[in-house]
Amino acid sequence: MLELRTDRLLLRPFAPEDEDALFGLWNDPYVRRYLWDDRLVSREEVREQIALSERDFRERGYGGFVLSLVDWPGALIGFCGLRRIEGREDVELLYGLYRDFWGRGLATEAARAVLRFGFERVGLKDIYARADLANAASIRVMERLGMSPHAPPTVTYRLRRSDFAP
Ligand SMILES: CC(C)(COP(=O)(O)OP(=O)(O)OC[C@H]1O[C@@H](n2cnc3c(N)ncnc32)[C@H](O)[C@@H]1OP(=O)(O)O)[C@@H](O)C(=O)NCCC(=O)NCCS
Repeated sequence: MLELRTDRLLLRPFAPEDEDALFGLWNDPYVRRYLWDDRLVSREEVREQIALSERDFRERGYGGFVLSLVDWPGALIGFCGLRRIEGREDVELLYGLYRDFWGRGLATEAARAVLRFGFERVGLKDIYARADLANAASIRVMERLGMSPHAPPTVTYRLRRSDFAP
């Protein structure tokens, strides 16, 4: 079975038995804030993500990995993986850890293993990563990985009908 290993982490492809753990992780307020635009994620969506990852591993060679510590292999502390950007063929890197594990370089360590897997074993040419401009930690991870801005950052403006002054 596919397993990636770093100095401190074990990475294993999403499996149906990870549903409870991923449901807990993705609904954690600190994790979902930017990852899911702060909304609650349903069990159905978690099952869809697991199924998508399983299909992608079969058909394209990449997908999502659950993360656990080498010293504490039974517990999920986060996830990291590769997935196509909606409506495009481009592949993006995703990651998220429980807050207790932030600030120790673990996201960078997991992401580096997944990038290496994507480039060397899957043969991808480019891997993208996206973050909200306010998500400084995620942007810092991208920079630590050696990624650089691909397109100028954009801001989105909105006008509500009720605020429109013709
Ligand atoms: C983004 C995330 C994975 C980073 O995890 P992490 O394990 O703390 O990351 P690392 O320790 O590898 O690196 C974090 C870097 O960001 C910096 N950082 C952390 N929090 C920060 C903050 N609030 N503001 C600015 N920089 C911050 C750290 O100092 C470190 O940089 P440094 O090495 O220059 O000191 C984690 O914050 C997370 O899980 N967030 C919720 C999910 C999420 O937003 N995922 C990304 C969606 S795009």
